[in-house]
Amino acid sequence: MTEAEIYAGRDPAIRVTAMPRDTNAYGDIFGGWLMSIMDSAAGLTAARLSKGRAVTVAMDGMQFHQPVKVGQEVSVYTDVEKVGRTSMVIAVEAWRRERHSEEAVKVTEAKFTFVAIDEDGRPRPVGG
Ligand SMILES: CC(C)(COP(=O)(O)OP(=O)(O)OC[C@H]1O[C@@H](n2cnc3c(N)ncnc32)[C@H](O)[C@@H]1OP(=O)(O)O)[C@@H](O)C(=O)NCCC(=O)NCCS
Repeated sequence: MTEAEIYAGRDPAIRVTAMPRDTNAYGDIFGGWLMSIMDSAAGLTAARLSKGRAVTVAMDGMQFHQPVKVGQEVSVYTDVEKVGRTSMVIAVEAWRRERHSEEAVKVTEAKFTFVAIDEDGRPRPVGG
């Protein structure tokens, strides 16, 4: 089974279509747009895992492997890599797919660190 096939069978945290408003001056999709949805996807996973508010404290190893074009579907997958006392490291990958094709290609990856916080913005234990 190829890596793409493994990902095709997984539930993404977020799946969205790249739209014309998300492009840069060259007509390709903005790296910042992709980073934003990757952050949102990791945020969903962190909130679920920590059962409450969590914020991004670091983003490491951001890599852009392939471009994304308008109209392509972008699926963002998250994997909890490490859980600390108040922090969580979440590995995130984004994959693109043509609207009318089954072939998926990995376009970006990064590791996001989130910290669970209380209502005063102070770190709280992930396990409650
Ligand atoms: C997240 C925040 C509350 C952490 O505060 P802090 O005083 O650094 O807290 P601590 O030093 O107690 O660290 C808390 C945890 O975060 C981890 N951490 C802190 N800075 C980190 C960094 N740069 N990279 C990785 N982990 C980090 C610590 O190792 C610790 O993990 P652990 O409890 O699992 O061992 C604070 O940095 C903050 O509010 N940052 C802004 C977050 C934000 O607004 N994000 C959205 C961007 S607009």
